[in-house]
Amino acid sequence: MPRRGEYLAYCSSANLGSGFDAVAIALNAFYDRVLIEAEKGGRRVIVEAVEGPEAEGVSREENTAIYAGLSLLEGENLNYTVRIRLWKGIPLSAGLGGSGATAAAVVAGISDLLDLGLAPEKLVYYAGEGEKASAGSPHYDNVAASLLGGLAIVSRTRAGIKVLSLRVNAYFVLGIPQDRLVIPKKTESMRRLLPEFVPFSEYVAEKGLLSLLIGGLAVGNTELAGLGMDDIVVTRARSQHVPCLREAREESLKAGALGFAISGAGPSVIALARDRQHAATLVDAMKRAYENCGREAIVKTASVAPGVSRLHDRAS
Ligand code: HSE
Repeated sequence: MPRRGEYLAYCSSANLGSGFDAVAIALNAFYDRVLIEAEKGGRRVIVEAVEGPEAEGVSREENTAIYAGLSLLEGENLNYTVRIRLWKGIPLSAGLGGSGATAAAVVAGISDLLDLGLAPEKLVYYAGEGEKASAGSPHYDNVAASLLGGLAIVSRTRAGIKVLSLRVNAYFVLGIPQDRLVIPKKTESMRRLLPEFVPFSEYVAEKGLLSLLIGGLAVGNTELAGLGMDDIVVTRARSQHVPCLREAREESLKAGALGFAISGAGPSVIALARDRQHAATLVDAMKRAYENCGREAIVKTASVAPGVSRLHDRAS
């Protein structure tokens, strides 16, 4: 008898400015769902259908779900055929961790369905391998946030990949350009823009900013966290490729945003608000910025989301 279950994973915003590849935050703005069926025999992952409001342009054959699922089956030496129906609610190529969320839901779902009890580090690793397919090199920030929820911190260490998820409370505003091209391997091309070397002074400055970002969010000092979002290196390298970045930043800061950054590899942006009410004010400011700069964009508020959850009881 096949085992069956449905899982939900939220989108995420990686980097938050100074935390390139090291931090991401799960946000309740959008989510993906995967219905997974696992049956003994073979070692295959098949995406049977892609549905939902953001399904257009999502390949069934080259889906992150397949790479993430296979990486888990191979890594754990399991012989199962896994069939997946993907409901896509996270906009594609937006910088909101869409493929990472799918990968997270798939590995957490398979682990749950097959009672594997895998450690978060292993799940993050397998989901990250799925991400490799879309980004070229693995980065674990988005998958860690969608998997575990909250503010995810992830790093390679001498003891392998380590992850930590902090339950933080913060309110954000996302600006998502609508006329963006769905570029295959967009993250990969945005990563090619990054410098090979940075001056030592910038390296030192970034460490201070990242410490303020994480420390500020951890203790609820959003003012300090917002200042910590002021990244130099990655933002400078990518800014030309993010539409209306300067305008959205200026209007948001004028309206009192505590921090502002490119979301992941862009082209979306993210602003940190003082509280829920302030986030609503920032929405107006950011909408104005996109209007003035002649780009259509969806602007919406978001707060911190939990990790992957099971929607329906497992059937076996
Ligand atoms: N940290 C990654 C990057 C996130 O900025 O390239 C991509 O979603």
